[in-house]
Amino acid sequence: IIVKALRNKLIVPSWNAFCQRISTIYSKCASATAGEVATYIPQLARQNPNRWGVSICTVDGQRVSYGDSKTPFCLQSISKAFNYAILASDLGATAVHSFVGQEPSGRHFNDICLDGNSKPHNPMLNSGAIVISSMIKSDMLMADRFDYVLNEYKKLAGGEFVGFDNATFLSERDTADRNYALAFFMKEHNCFPKAQHSISSTLDFYFQLCSLEATCESAAVMAATLANGGVCPLTDEKCIENQACRNVLSLMYSCGMYDYSGQFAFHVGMPAKSGVSGGLVVVIPNLMGICLWSPPLDEMGNSVRGVEFCKELINTFKFHNY
Ligand code: DON
Repeated sequence: IIVKALRNKLIVPSWNAFCQRISTIYSKCASATAGEVATYIPQLARQNPNRWGVSICTVDGQRVSYGDSKTPFCLQSISKAFNYAILASDLGATAVHSFVGQEPSGRHFNDICLDGNSKPHNPMLNSGAIVISSMIKSDMLMADRFDYVLNEYKKLAGGEFVGFDNATFLSERDTADRNYALAFFMKEHNCFPKAQHSISSTLDFYFQLCSLEATCESAAVMAATLANGGVCPLTDEKCIENQACRNVLSLMYSCGMYDYSGQFAFHVGMPAKSGVSGGLVVVIPNLMGICLWSPPLDEMGNSVRGVEFCKELINTFKFHNY
């Protein structure tokens, strides 16, 4: 980064001016008070609605953060994007997509439904994410699988904070009737590649991955790794294969924002993935990764301040894909 700075070759050359504008957008969005904190998992219902953090990491490793950017939060469905990227990097797209499709479902994220080939519609919904989780290092012991994923996340984050929220894991497992119903429905339809693990261990693993924690700062680095073709900008380590990186961004673009994905692609035009904890990861390919966190959600389940920030960002900079 120092060499690039001295040669004036940084991806965002006028960094101070850029940060000034980000700071203005951050403050503007802080005044948004709409939305409700997710209540269906008791631990999430206790999140402070006033938390608001923004962090940016460029593909050169330039960083800026505002607000609650160092507070750990649970990644929830944001993990779906990274779990898919890790699996697709390991097994390749053909193997993964013989079990999970690439189509937006037009249905709620936890609906009990499959596509015309009896496969989950895509890896960003619960159905697809449960099958994806079941395929990650399926020949290993549960403890080793968890360690494997945790370690991959840490690589993506350049060694920065990745944690595990056990209370959320336990709380989610105790309130997971819908996911149990969905998993047994998928078992009935032969959606799982091999029955190496029981449905309850498969779901435990899925809940554990939803309960992984990051901060805006560490998740921005993870997003920047995707923006940088799978190479972590802080360590230069190749974490995700090229094809898997392209594929996860395509799926985030078409399916990453629940039932708002089409509108988000239309208005904002960047690959993104949200979670019910109010986190939102945005990737601007070849430029930067962004993580936004504010717990109150809109009726689609996306962070109100997070979506507002993205819209303001697009009004300010030409980051829209088209
Ligand atoms: O499976 C659940 O209900 C949640 N843990 C999923 C979390 C989430 O963010 C919703 N996403 N698609």
